[in-house]
Amino acid sequence: MSDEHYRLVGPDANSELELVQHKPTQGPNVLDVTKLYRRGGVFTYDPGFAATASCTSSITYIDGEQGLLLYRGYPIEQLAKSSTFIEVAYLLLYGELPTSDELEKFERSIRTHTMLNESFLRFFNGFHHDAHPMAMVSGVVASMSAFYHDTTDIHDAGHRDIFAHRIIAKIPTIAAAAYKHSLGQPFVYPQNDLDYCTNLLNMFFAVPPTTYEVDALSAEALDLLFILHADHEQNCSTSSVRMVGSSGSNPYSAIAAGISALWGPAHGGANEAVINMLEEIGSPSRLQQYIDRAKDRNDPFRLMGFGHRVYKSYDPRAMIIRKMCHRVLEQLGDKDAPIFELATRLEEIALRDEFFIEKNLYPNVDFYSGIIYQALGIPKSMFTVMFAIARCVGWVTHWREMVRDPESRIGRPRQLYRGPKQRDYLALDKRN
Ligand code: CMC
Repeated sequence: MSDEHYRLVGPDANSELELVQHKPTQGPNVLDVTKLYRRGGVFTYDPGFAATASCTSSITYIDGEQGLLLYRGYPIEQLAKSSTFIEVAYLLLYGELPTSDELEKFERSIRTHTMLNESFLRFFNGFHHDAHPMAMVSGVVASMSAFYHDTTDIHDAGHRDIFAHRIIAKIPTIAAAAYKHSLGQPFVYPQNDLDYCTNLLNMFFAVPPTTYEVDALSAEALDLLFILHADHEQNCSTSSVRMVGSSGSNPYSAIAAGISALWGPAHGGANEAVINMLEEIGSPSRLQQYIDRAKDRNDPFRLMGFGHRVYKSYDPRAMIIRKMCHRVLEQLGDKDAPIFELATRLEEIALRDEFFIEKNLYPNVDFYSGIIYQALGIPKSMFTVMFAIARCVGWVTHWREMVRDPESRIGRPRQLYRGPKQRDYLALDKRN
């Protein structure tokens, strides 16, 4: 696809500048401003990168107006219906759906990298029992660079592959170890005969004295949530991974940065915040009061699980999760669970409210996911960890794309400086 030229007219007639406008496969044209400073002497200003493409990517595409999400071109609805998390992981990492041989080989590799070096388990003893699991998981993932420094040459394709398989395989084991530590229960080792999500649930809920059988619907629901959370183009945590990785740093430290970024309530921490909010609301009679608070500009309260930087229509992932939520509550939990009823009522009221309509605020992926996690017996503090396990695939995929991109440079934004102009140092006795 050919590029176009874009003429930018400056403050006077002589300051005309021609910039290249790239044509993407899908989506709006992208104005290339890389030469703007050198040729025009100006920077662009875009806090929060709301109108800035920070890189070239061919992994995930979102059309926020249409509510469209594609992984490597495949609609999320089709993947959610017909694929598995492991197959989606392969698709994201390698760009194409695997043949059965490729899938078998990939799955075997992930299954055989699940174990942790025993020294890792001792790390957890250094954490207090009530440490937030996200803090433990990010700390332990960062420490992986101290164990695998023999395979972290980012310019070696083989090393990059081993890193990808290792982190995807081990992050559930790390998450389960954090959970068991918070309970004071013995760690349950991974079982390589179990699939990814069944193994994860087994490590979470099995205890050595008894046999434990993972419920099939729980594993299916978790697999679906993981597919939906696996990637979401240049979001805050993925951009953090790319930013840290752009300096050539160890890839485990880049993933740890992604985990830290994900923790915030405006990002992955929202799934925990939604349940906290619904518990705080407590009764349908108090819903309007909270809606009014969310609309009040002088009140920092926001409806958690609502709104999205990119989606200006219903988040397609929320639609899929909502259906699974019904199934899970019917079979595993209480289908009349007060929290689900509250969420449904809240959604109904908000979607009819002028404020939310005008600002295009719809439920996002986090609105219903916490309710499913709760029905599966996963505690609130682990919700964002579950998100991190799934998104790890996206982070690794973006990191690999960045490392191989010949146009990739160290991330180094500029700024709109509004501090004092140059001035001379005043000796202490001259200041009054
Ligand atoms: N409740 C009430 N008002 C809201 C909300 C909300 N949840 N979200 C946005 N608004 C208002 C906001 O006050 C602003 O109003 P105004 O134009 O009058 O200043 C307008 O809508 C635009 O909001 P914004 O903060 O400029 O939008 P953003 O793109 O910077 O933020 C967001 C996106 C997701 C951080 C935000 O919608 C939010 O805080 N939502 C609640 C937290 C949440 O659910 N996060 C999960 C996001 S999806 C999963 C993920 O990314 O990990």
